[in-house]
Amino acid sequence: MKNVAIVGAQWGDEGKGKLTDSLTPHFDVIVRYQGGNNAGHTIWVDGKKIVTHLVPSGILYDHTVGLIGQGVVIDPQALFHEIEELKSLGVKLSEKNLKISQQANVITAYHQLLDQAREGASDLKLGTTGKGIGPCYEDRASRRGLKIQDLLDEVVLKKKLQVLHKEKSALIKDLYQKTLPSVDEELKRLFALGKKIAPYLCDGFLFLREAALQNKKVLYEGAQGALLDVDYGTYPYVTSSNTTLAGIYNGAGVFGKMDEFWGVVKAYTTRVGEGPFPTELFDETGEKIGRVGAEFGATTGRKRRCGWLDFPALRYAREICHMTGVIITKLDVLTDLDEIKVCTHYEYKGQKLDILYPGINFYDLKPVFLSFKSWSLEDLKNPKADGPLNTYLSYIEKQLHVPVVGYSYGPDRSELKWLKSFILE
Ligand code: IMP
Ligand code: MG
Repeated sequence: MKNVAIVGAQWGDEGKGKLTDSLTPHFDVIVRYQGGNNAGHTIWVDGKKIVTHLVPSGILYDHTVGLIGQGVVIDPQALFHEIEELKSLGVKLSEKNLKISQQANVITAYHQLLDQAREGASDLKLGTTGKGIGPCYEDRASRRGLKIQDLLDEVVLKKKLQVLHKEKSALIKDLYQKTLPSVDEELKRLFALGKKIAPYLCDGFLFLREAALQNKKVLYEGAQGALLDVDYGTYPYVTSSNTTLAGIYNGAGVFGKMDEFWGVVKAYTTRVGEGPFPTELFDETGEKIGRVGAEFGATTGRKRRCGWLDFPALRYAREICHMTGVIITKLDVLTDLDEIKVCTHYEYKGQKLDILYPGINFYDLKPVFLSFKSWSLEDLKNPKADGPLNTYLSYIEKQLHVPVVGYSYGPDRSELKWLKSFILE
């Protein structure tokens, strides 16, 4: 098994970071291919909390190299802050084990201000993380964006900033009554950051090609989740990158075939920000799940909305990510509940609907639920073939037509069980 992807199967925060970290011993290279520091991947190691935003979660092991691919949008200041923080926590991080594609786009102060100004206005509030992700991807597509390598050339950088400033300042000033930092201020800031970033730069294409020639095993670490995909998600309440299969190909490049696409599925559903959420809970059970599951954003600290597992949404996610297996996380959070529900299908316009699809009217859906008996922590540690956990996991396999390859039952690295050990060989 050489190329494996870990993708979020819901609206993000499924526990991909922990999974990536746990799989890292079996791989040589870990690649982030989309998103930016809107992501927050939390890993607990021996009681120590480590959060990564841009740096691949595989960085905690000595033998691997992490690549931030060209499909990622990078706020260089946030990246340095993260690198320094990781180092202060004892993580060995240098230009030897962290590589950054020089083709990745740069998030400037203008992008952040525009993102925040739009969110502050009332016309279309998306509940973004305010990190400038959307405006940066916009400029990538409009071909006005800065590539990381531009930070190394003061003349090129100035020219590109002038173009950006002209456009963004008109928008920000006229529409939102705010002011941008001047071109010279931004030039000074970004040029200084470019000098610091230079040692980490590489050509992502050549790096991955070389890795393939050397038969290296590559793990692709997704950020956000399938339903936040800019093309396939619950548009417009989505992020600005492809969080599904396509993002791997356009954000990093794959050499050889992909062997596995594993979807990470939280045993319930959460979402941060605005947008439809068919199985959302507005009662004490939802509150309890959020409390026990510590459902607060790792990036923004925002409270996450909580609801039951949603099979029509998962069937859709399985298709758009070409999932070959799923990993179920946070099963421990549900141990205290009397009953655990899952949405088996929706009632939609008088019909039974098994799968969500993009053109659906989300506000016309009525989720139909099935109840399961809850399991104990002991069941999770030592699962029994005839126990309630097995009933639940078998049901998931039957509904999604893919194996449950593992499950996680606590934040620590050790609180994880692989059910199909052959896959890691
Ligand atoms: P943006 O990615 O900051 O533009 O935000 C767009 C939407 O995606 C908002 O609803 C965010 O809350 C959501 N989002 C972005 N990144 C994450 C993530 O890592 N986990 C969960 N939701 C996210
Ligand atoms: Mg997260």
